[in-house]
Amino acid sequence: MSDINEVCSSISWGVLFSHPRDFTPVCTTELGRAAQLSPDFSRRNVKLIALSVDGLEEHHDWSKDIMAYNNAEPGSEFPFPIVADDRRELVEKLGMLDPEEKDRSGMPLSARCVFVIGPDKKLKLSILYPATTGRNFDEILRVIDSLQLTAHNRVATPVDWRTGDSVMVPPSISEQEAVTLFPAGVYTKHLPSGKKYLRYTPQPNTHQQ
Ligand code: BEZ
Repeated sequence: MSDINEVCSSISWGVLFSHPRDFTPVCTTELGRAAQLSPDFSRRNVKLIALSVDGLEEHHDWSKDIMAYNNAEPGSEFPFPIVADDRRELVEKLGMLDPEEKDRSGMPLSARCVFVIGPDKKLKLSILYPATTGRNFDEILRVIDSLQLTAHNRVATPVDWRTGDSVMVPPSISEQEAVTLFPAGVYTKHLPSGKKYLRYTPQPNTHQQ
């Protein structure tokens, strides 16, 4: 449907994600959710592109089912491209095939891979789910928020972090450097070891130089 280089253009981030098969239940719920959240991905300057080993016609027909599953207005357009890798070139090249999950003719299906690609076209994060476990696309938005923040600021995000929460000062930054880097302040939690490694600072909202 679209060329990957075109989708992940120089200024955008990209999420390339595979699913096992069109017209299957879990995949329908997943692509339905991704379609609902597509404005949230666009707001973050992220282009979505799905992929499976089905053909173009199947993708077109199935995308209508997905929009109906979403109770979208009849005739509304599916919001992102789905790669038709029916010759299995990309799934093989990108290691997306799940050897445990086969179709009725015994051919392996693609797993539920998620590749987040930065504007420099480099892989920033990959997550792999088996066919039997549907993904959580809110989590994918959450990790993109962390990836985009940490691409421009020397901070790290803690467990379950969400935009607006405090962030952590990485161990590579000295106490002295932290004072200049984080003018909003650094809070260090006292720990039994006496080591000062649990350091928090408010989320920066500007790019550090
Ligand atoms: C599904 O999308 O429902 C599915 C696809 C392949 C294996 C198991 C479940």
